[in-house]
Parts: sequence; structure tokens; C-alpha cells
Amino acid sequence: MIVIHSVAQMQQYARERRGEIALVPTMGYLHEGHASLMVEARKRAKFVVASIFVNPTQFGVNEDLDSYPRDLEHDKEIAEKAGVDVIFAPTAADMYPAGYQSYLNVEEITAHLCGASRPGHFRGVTTVVAKLFNIVAPKVALFGKKDFQQLAVIRRMVQDFNFDVEIVGMPIVREKDGLAMSSRNTKLSPAEREQALCLSRSIAAAKKAFRGGERDVAALKKAAVAVIEAEKSPQIDYLEFRDQDSLLPLDKADERTLLALAVRVGSVRLIDNSILGED
Ligand code: PAJ
Repeated sequence: MIVIHSVAQMQQYARERRGEIALVPTMGYLHEGHASLMVEARKRAKFVVASIFVNPTQFGVNEDLDSYPRDLEHDKEIAEKAGVDVIFAPTAADMYPAGYQSYLNVEEITAHLCGASRPGHFRGVTTVVAKLFNIVAPKVALFGKKDFQQLAVIRRMVQDFNFDVEIVGMPIVREKDGLAMSSRNTKLSPAEREQALCLSRSIAAAKKAFRGGERDVAALKKAAVAVIEAEKSPQIDYLEFRDQDSLLPLDKADERTLLALAVRVGSVRLIDNSILGED
């Protein structure tokens, strides 16, 4: 495995391997969720590139850009074990040099959920992912369903801008107790780590009601919200039942309905997602 820091070198490597690269974009501080994407990438192309870049354009002014966890040495071990050939870890100055002024914006599907609570976030995500697609020219790129809306936004961008890349969505990897793995989990205190279980428990409560025959979204929402409100400190940012393609609101749920939630536990904002008819 090699580490490439320069955009020009990455482009050179990619030019010589066109049509043979799978890309896994990440912001580092890798865990088993990221590794599952890399292992699948290994099966889908001759060369696997994992990018590690804490992308400043997707963080709002009051968000955690400076405190976002970073550990390249540990990331190298995880990536190597998962079968990665190249870590692409560019500098912000190389990705956004002086005079930079171009952004890619996907409109409607970014207006809801995380897009509503984090203005400008998806504009930063789509801009950096478009740049990575141009630099690495992958034939396939893998994203986790943990960030369900992000995956939907990227699929939309690829279709609308005719990117010649296959997008693969991968299942959420969870800790044994149900908490969705996230680089931000390391910022939770032991008490907060315990409270953070309310996200997966809330999903379980909604699914139980759904399996019991409940289809009314207002009733399902009540069941899910009650689990979080039973904890004193976590604050719901949003908890929504949506169409999994358009992300638009629904009155009646079915097997394909998405439950998406974002909850603040202490200073950490956690997200989780699930499709009601899936395990
Ligand atoms: P990051 O949060 O590092 O996540 C990188 C990829 O790993 C995303 O596709 C995310 O959905 C996936 N992932 C994270 N936790 C996961 C889990 N528990 N199970 C399965 N997949 C998981 O998402 C980003 O970075 C950035 O926005 C990025 C796309 C790299 C653009 O900067």
C-alpha cells in the first residue's frame, strides 16, 4: 500500500489504470464501517483507492472541522488490512488552492433532513466527491447507507452530471449493542455513549410497531420519539419517515419507507437510518 498526498501524483496513478479503480471516499479515523466498504471495493476492481480528507467545505462555521478526529497511522493499518492499494490523503491547499471558486449543488433532495439542519453541507460533499471522481476516475465508488441522504444525493449528482461511475450503497455496520459505527462516537463520554443507544432503540421501536401492523406515520413517529424523549439529555434534530428515493414526507408507511434521524448527544450530533421492511 502506498500513500499519495499530491493531487497531480494521484491523477498520474489513475491515468495509468483507467477503468480499473474502485474508490472509497472517507474523512479518515477509520473503523469497521469504512473497512467494509474497502473489502467490497477489493472485490469489484483491480486497484482500490481510499481517500482520506477532512473536507472543510462540508463543515458549517460552528461545526466540528477543527476537532474532527484524525489519525493517519492507525488509518493506514486498517486500510492495508482491508486490501487498499492507495491512500489518497491530499492537503486542503492542494484541493482548494487560492482562487478556488467552483461548487456543485444538487438542489431538491438536499433541502431536507441533514441539508435543512446543516446549510451548505451537501454542497461541500458533492463538490469534493465530484473532484475526487475527476482526480481518481474510478469505475466504481462505494458509500455507506449510514449516511443515507448522502448516498441519495450522490446518486442524483452522478445521474444529473453524467459521471461515468457505478455507485454502490453498503449496509450500516453497528457495534454489538446496536450503535451505528461513526468516527464521531469516540467523542462521546461513557455516559453519552450509553445515551447514544437511544437512536438504534428508537428505530427498533418504530419497526416493532410497523411489524405489528401500524402504518400511520404519525403513530410510528410517536413510538420512535418516545424512546428518545425517555432519555433526558439527547435532543432530536430530526426524526422523519420518508420515501427512500425522493426523501419526501409520507402519511402512510410501507416496507420501503426510510426512517432517518439525527440526535444531539452532548455536543455530538449522531445520525442513523433504517428501512422499515429490512432487518
Ligand atoms: P465519512 O463520514 O468518513 O464516511 C465515509 C464513508 O463511510 C461514507 O460513505 C459513510 O456512509 C461510510 N460509513 C460511515 N460509517 C459507516 C457505518 N457504520 N457503516 C457503513 N458505512 C459507514 O461520509 C463522509 O466521510 C464524507 O461526507 C465524504 C463522502 C468522504 C465526503 O467528504
